[in-house]
Amino acid sequence: MPDMSVLILGGDGYLGWPTAMYFSRRGRAVTVVDNYFRRNASIELDSESLIPTANLLQRAKRWEETTGKRINVFIGDIVQYEFLLSVVHESRPDTIIHYAEQPSAPYSMLNREKAAFTIRNNLISTLNIIYAVKEAAPGSHIVKLGTMGEYGTPDIDIEEGWLEIEYKGRKGKFLFPREASSLYHTTKIQDTDLLWFYVRTWGLRVTDLMQGPVYGISTDEADIHDDLKPNFHYDEIFGTVLNRFIVQAIAGYPLTVYGKGGQKRGYINLKDTLQCVYLSSINPPDCGELRIFNQVTEVFSVNDLAGKVQHVGKELGYDVHIHNIENPRKEKEDHYYNPKYTGLAELGLAPHYLTDEVLTGMFNVIKPYQHRINRDAIFRGVKW
Ligand SMILES: NC(=O)c1ccc[n+]([C@@H]2O[C@H](COP(=O)([O-])OP(=O)(O)OC[C@H]3O[C@@H](n4cnc5c(N)ncnc54)[C@H](O)[C@@H]3O)[C@@H](O)[C@H]2O)c1
Repeated sequence: MPDMSVLILGGDGYLGWPTAMYFSRRGRAVTVVDNYFRRNASIELDSESLIPTANLLQRAKRWEETTGKRINVFIGDIVQYEFLLSVVHESRPDTIIHYAEQPSAPYSMLNREKAAFTIRNNLISTLNIIYAVKEAAPGSHIVKLGTMGEYGTPDIDIEEGWLEIEYKGRKGKFLFPREASSLYHTTKIQDTDLLWFYVRTWGLRVTDLMQGPVYGISTDEADIHDDLKPNFHYDEIFGTVLNRFIVQAIAGYPLTVYGKGGQKRGYINLKDTLQCVYLSSINPPDCGELRIFNQVTEVFSVNDLAGKVQHVGKELGYDVHIHNIENPRKEKEDHYYNPKYTGLAELGLAPHYLTDEVLTGMFNVIKPYQHRINRDAIFRGVKW
């Protein structure tokens, strides 16, 4: 599919930029869109990326200089329908990858204004994509990033998106019951409902990826040049737990385990996120199908992660302490957790597991930026 055209919404983000390079390297025509929400919010909250991040135009230029491949850039807000529509008209995508949301649970719980922003940004962006596909790119495949947090932590096994139920002698297949633990996660549930409604009504073609927290900084493309590295956040608002723990270990800041630390989640290496999104795009579902995959490769508790970081940190000469602090969130700290995640493996996903070598690699990439660590951003205690 050398001429396949891919539109990546949220292309300046932690996942969006590495995805753009991954597809570009594989010969796809890539267009990226971003409104720099994440950059601006990080400045507002004094929690900027650990590694200085070139802007999207500079990154695209560097990519073209180093590989000879072009990535088209549009700066704008996809909540503005006319803007999104014009980009879809111009880029004529076969696949639209939707990363362009407010992705932080703590941000969504900061105050009413941030909550309202999260609802408006996440739901209207999804609605606009649905309309733009109908109007300007019928048949195009929407690959949407959801989250494993949509399911919560039920006392039963978590199936891949759907649940078959037998009730009073009759059978039916329904979206797996969902129970979010933050407003952000609630908007992801609402996104899934929106997509499912329009799949049934207009016959859209959609893959909804229930992704766990991502870790890592290195990809084959990002490693080519410092300007190509993804944004990397370690602060309480935008950082994901393992990325945070490694920065904390390097900074000599005790690892902040919330409560008992028995919270289990499914995790995934950034390299595998790229594989999953790519595999989904080259194996699209039929029109009228909402396909759901659980996008994780391993399950760990927070204590497991803290223990691994402490172990590798000590081997590298760091004095790493673990601190169980009062949990600022409402969540179960000791619970059953058994998600199924076979769909992407069946498409060919070859996982990069969380080994000591992977952790050592992360320590080594982050260490030169140690002087940029803002200790005040590591823990603020956003409570709900
Ligand atoms: N990183 C993770 O661990 C993780 C886990 C599960 C799901 N996800 C989901 O994956 C997606 C990408 O996450 P990420 O970690 O790359 O976040 P990110 O904040 O780094 O990337 C999202 C990008 O979208 C842009 N954006 C937001 N609203 C926009 C709008 N209205 N118009 C144009 N651009 C807009 C932001 O500026 C940002 O660059 C999100 O939807 C997130 O919910 C991420």
